[in-house]
Amino acid sequence: MVLFEQSSIVKELTTLTYDMWSKGWDEYNGGNVSCILRDEDLEQLPRDEPIKQATVEDIPFSMVGKYILITASGSHFRNLKDHIKRDLGVIKVTEKGYDIVWGFLENRRPTSELYMHLLAHAQRLEIDFNHRVVVHNHAPNAAAYSLISDHDDKSYTLPLWRVLTESIVVFPDGVGILPWELPGTLDIALHTVEKLRKCRLVVWAFHGILATGRDFQDCFGLIETVDKAAMIHMKTRTSRQYEGLSDDDLYAVCQVLKVQPREGFLDFSKRGQNEVKNIITNLQ
Ligand code: 13P
Ligand code: ZN
Repeated sequence: MVLFEQSSIVKELTTLTYDMWSKGWDEYNGGNVSCILRDEDLEQLPRDEPIKQATVEDIPFSMVGKYILITASGSHFRNLKDHIKRDLGVIKVTEKGYDIVWGFLENRRPTSELYMHLLAHAQRLEIDFNHRVVVHNHAPNAAAYSLISDHDDKSYTLPLWRVLTESIVVFPDGVGILPWELPGTLDIALHTVEKLRKCRLVVWAFHGILATGRDFQDCFGLIETVDKAAMIHMKTRTSRQYEGLSDDDLYAVCQVLKVQPREGFLDFSKRGQNEVKNIITNLQ
């Protein structure tokens, strides 16, 4: 039997954390990651007695009984792959908190953003049965742009859609943004969850970004796209006045690539329906 630390889910996570550090998204101990384990992942998990039990208030009921692979508070993503059993752990969510069932050696404990991870999983599972992963990091362009953007979802999202054609395809639900809040609190978790009702990405102003999705690559790609669009936007906005892609252009992208943009963000009133035919339709 493969040791759990050598299982594919752990390898995927350690590859992700190293890649994120390489991108400059996780300075020092910045960032945290969690993943709901499937039955096939659990087959490789030794089922001994819980190593430790912790009490946490306000556990979302729908998460009780789930096993979650999650990074340790204080872990450094640069070298997490060399300290897997210390910097990673598996918790089983209980009504009163959680049991540590694997990892977290040397008295480590789950990330200080545990509330956010548990509540975000619960919220996204209501919307997508296949949801499994939450990734938080300090992607610098996404964070820098939060200093100059208004702190409402539409103001933050629209410039990103307008400067990079694929943005609206990758995140048609837009990006939610919260004003600055204390990290690691139940409050920031509750406010994040409000945003996650409508979209899969949330920026914490003056701090970082989080993505929710079906796997690690999905979350990585979402953040990568937001961060790149934010970089392009900030690099060009002061050097030359430009409008970026118009509502009509974005509408055409949505039609061709069959995505539904977040309601209320674009004005389609001047555009007749069905003006742009999809290539697939044309071929038939
Ligand atoms: P942890 O080391 O507790 O995961 O905290 C890092 C972080 O980014 C907090 O927002
Ligand atoms: Zn953070």
